[in-house]
Amino acid sequence: MRMPLFRGAKRWMIPITGLVLSSILFAACGETSPTILDTHGPVASQETFLFWVILVVSVIIFVGVEGMLIFNIVRFRERPGTPAPKQIHGNTLIEIIWTAAPAVVLLIVLVFTVRGVLAVAPESQPTTGNTVNVTAIGHQWWWEFYYPQYNITTADTLVIPTNTTIHVNLFSNNVIHSFWVPKLTGKTDLIPGHDNTKWFVANDPGTYQGICAEFCGTQHANMRFTVQAVASDAFNTWAITANQAAATPADSSQAAQGEAIFKVQCETCHGIVGVTPNYHMQDSSKNCDEVKNCLLGPDLTHFGTRKLIAGGVLQWDQQSCQPSNPNLMTQCNIAVWLHNTQAVKPGNDMVVNLTQDQITQLVAYLITLK
Ligand code: CUA
Repeated sequence: MRMPLFRGAKRWMIPITGLVLSSILFAACGETSPTILDTHGPVASQETFLFWVILVVSVIIFVGVEGMLIFNIVRFRERPGTPAPKQIHGNTLIEIIWTAAPAVVLLIVLVFTVRGVLAVAPESQPTTGNTVNVTAIGHQWWWEFYYPQYNITTADTLVIPTNTTIHVNLFSNNVIHSFWVPKLTGKTDLIPGHDNTKWFVANDPGTYQGICAEFCGTQHANMRFTVQAVASDAFNTWAITANQAAATPADSSQAAQGEAIFKVQCETCHGIVGVTPNYHMQDSSKNCDEVKNCLLGPDLTHFGTRKLIAGGVLQWDQQSCQPSNPNLMTQCNIAVWLHNTQAVKPGNDMVVNLTQDQITQLVAYLITLK
């Protein structure tokens, strides 16, 4: 006959097995999926090492304690006619052991923690080799990256050279965000009125996913960015291109009409170097609030080179965004975004009212911004 307890347990095993299997399945999602277990830089390696130390210590304690418990439950279970067990209340030796042992365990964890904290602290930033400075500005809900040495501003994509120290100034003038690139570096908060700094290095070229790790409003989960680590030469080439003003579209082309619409409808919030009057990049030494040209929306000077739209919510696939495409409004994500930004990303600051023709002209213009 089956025990009722066993029948109950079996019912519960279905969702639990499902959860375990799906977490194994989702853990394998995509090459760029963020994980702290696949590190590509010294800062993330230090942090992951600490994770393993604490995990191993915890597993030893868990297996030891649970093993003893199960052994004792089985070995010393009550049988018919067993006498009451020997009472050892107030045993000094045992009291000392179970006070000292956890203290020793915590001391081991403390030593490794302090070692890890010191290794990744701002003071431990390497002083040899090149350093690229970046100001990461948290907006609701997208990331702005400003390179003071190169006078470049990007949105949602941080291009960095490999094997180079990246020094990041973290700045927010709204709410608290948190900068996190799991494969490269752990989380550091962007706190209004308290500018944190951090540093990291990417050893391998590649695309790494970044995440905002502090709840910052309704679209917090959609506040993502990518880090593109490239070789130094490729970075320098990129910086030269990114530093140039936007190309001027040919007279009376669709793109030129799009530029005209941009000047009327978009310039309140967005800037394009060479188009927006007096628009240049921010000075990282000043707060965003104090800079005259600090705009609400992303710099669009080289929008045509980007891969993501709207803080990483949409892909920016330019094949389907040719103005001649009859299905532009449904197939081209930038057209989808311009048509109804609130449907794509509810609560964002962008409110526009554009006709289909205006959207087509703007798309024609935006794809020229390489
Ligand atoms: Cu920004 Cu969450």
